[in-house]
Amino acid sequence: MTSATLLTSKSAENDPTGFRDLQPLIEEALATACDFGAGCPERLGDAMRYAVLAPGKRLRPALVLMAAEACGGQIIHAMPGAVAVEMIHAYSLIHDDLPAMDDDDLRRGRPTCHIKFDEATAILAGDALIAQAFTHLCENVSDPLLAATAVRTLAKAAGPCHLVGGQADDLAAENRFVEPEESASKDEIQITGGDNTAALMHLESIHQRKTGALIAASLSLGATLSGGTEQHRAALACFAKNVGLAFQVVDDLLDLTADAAAMGKRTGKDAVKGKLTYPGLLGLEGAKQRAEDLTRKAQEAIKVFGKRNWRLSSLANYVLERQH
Ligand code: IPE
Ligand code: IPE
Ligand code: MG
Ligand code: MG
Ligand code: MG
Repeated sequence: MTSATLLTSKSAENDPTGFRDLQPLIEEALATACDFGAGCPERLGDAMRYAVLAPGKRLRPALVLMAAEACGGQIIHAMPGAVAVEMIHAYSLIHDDLPAMDDDDLRRGRPTCHIKFDEATAILAGDALIAQAFTHLCENVSDPLLAATAVRTLAKAAGPCHLVGGQADDLAAENRFVEPEESASKDEIQITGGDNTAALMHLESIHQRKTGALIAASLSLGATLSGGTEQHRAALACFAKNVGLAFQVVDDLLDLTADAAAMGKRTGKDAVKGKLTYPGLLGLEGAKQRAEDLTRKAQEAIKVFGKRNWRLSSLANYVLERQH
């Protein structure tokens, strides 16, 4: 890893994201980690690199590094966690875009992996990235106990009760939440004109699992790889719960209000697919207010870090204000 001049809270005044200086380090670590070695078929490796090295925001790896720094650790020690979490994220995007799921043709400003390559290669690239994420952690975290803890954290977040479970329920909820004037079959649940508390709770549970869990795992990995205390972990968990949900509320809002050129992915698709979303349940203003409230709660939670909270606090604002 090349040495970069990392910002301090004072020198970061012009960085609204809190991690611009970390991005080149993350890109370099990802590029190095994407050398899969002998035995990996060329086309499979190309598809994996295509997905991982595409221009993503790198929010999750940034969160790993930020959490490590907030806990008083060194960024370089947390980099294996940052790489592994981005590999899991990249796999989840490849599969999320498949025809059997959201059926999207644009991701990170480029054709989706199954369009650029083919469906089978995209499925296999996703599969391989899951395994590669854990291999990377085990090969690059030198303390076996820390490596095992990190693997467990990431595996749990990616698993059936979290990321994959949230994705399954997201798909299952398609077209089941309808306006009262539309004729409701026994599978449909009305979302307006009455109490929509049940729908909101179901939506929050989907968002916390499909998106929130990996964000929470990112912060937890940062704490693990930097020896964070129980107090640090509790603060980061509360930050994660709120910022993770805010992130997906904003993703839902941007799907409704932004255009594909700005987002690098198709927009307006949640409504077409009958997805359960925050703007769908609360309206635009209600969803914006919810995202703001969650952001403030997240920022409140990290006061325990004192001045060392500046990156996380800036990132929470960025998640709320982002335009892509
Ligand atoms: C998109 O995540 C998928 C969701 C969980 C909503 P990001 O908005 O972080 O996507 P990239 O990594 O910047 O492409
Ligand atoms: C994707 O959520 C969540 C995961 C990939 C786990 P979305 O389906 O809302 O993400 P986008 O909008 O396609 O990026
Ligand atoms: Mg989806
Ligand atoms: Mg999608
Ligand atoms: Mg979305």
